[in-house]
Amino acid sequence: MRRGVVVHGGAGSPRSLSDGPAGAAESAMHILVGGGDAVDASTEATRVMEDDERFNAGTGSVLRMDGIPYMDAAVMSSDEECGAVAYLTRTKNPVLVARKVLDTPHILLVADGAVEFARKCGFNDYDPATAASRARLERGTAEFGRGNRPKWPRNWATYKVDTVGAVARDGRGRFAASGSTGGTFPALRGRVGDIAMIGCGIFAGRHGAVAATGIGEEIIRKVLSKTVYDYMKEDISAQEAADRGIALFDRSISVGVITINDSGFGIASTTDMASHAITD
Ligand code: GLY
Repeated sequence: MRRGVVVHGGAGSPRSLSDGPAGAAESAMHILVGGGDAVDASTEATRVMEDDERFNAGTGSVLRMDGIPYMDAAVMSSDEECGAVAYLTRTKNPVLVARKVLDTPHILLVADGAVEFARKCGFNDYDPATAASRARLERGTAEFGRGNRPKWPRNWATYKVDTVGAVARDGRGRFAASGSTGGTFPALRGRVGDIAMIGCGIFAGRHGAVAATGIGEEIIRKVLSKTVYDYMKEDISAQEAADRGIALFDRSISVGVITINDSGFGIASTTDMASHAITD
């Protein structure tokens, strides 16, 4: 395989929505075929997914219990350059802000600092809420209550949460991973999941790239993306590495992984997951 991109729409997203990741993968592949690098391709795939309001990232992100979407995103390249934002509000494309952070000496900007940085980079004020996300908040509030004292679901770790993400390999053999999410509902104010934590939600290095999705707390406990990346250092396929990552979890926990390395790609999940891969 020379070039390739894999895109997912989140653990728990129905396969009937696979046209979303398919369109995002095509857009990213266009960049790779034009000689673009893996970081730009992976970022583009995640941007397209953020703009697709059927998924929990960017426009259409989950509204948290105070009615506001707080979004996390990250990008990493195989030469260990990384950028991330957490608890970002009122911005259209968190992954593009994370891509800008990658160009600074820092790795992670949060909350009002991330918003201020986004505005300085030219990202305008934008409300990512949609009619569907407002309706979801009403249903969620009826089920779990309002404010900072949710009635937690019986098994919170099985609660479905989507994230979008992509991994890419460019024609020069460089890899990149990216991810973006509106997080979970319910969640306490201030909660940040796996996506902004490098090694948990995404990881890339010279052996390949990994993006994870699912309940952030479960993913963080296993440092999942770095763990799966380390599997790829052994002489196993990208699919086998993804399968081994998913095997770390009880089947009742909603989690998914996509991988790419020199010889191919992998897609694995404990639940439905809209996804698409293109290689040449
Ligand atoms: N995986 C997204 C989150 O838990 O925030």
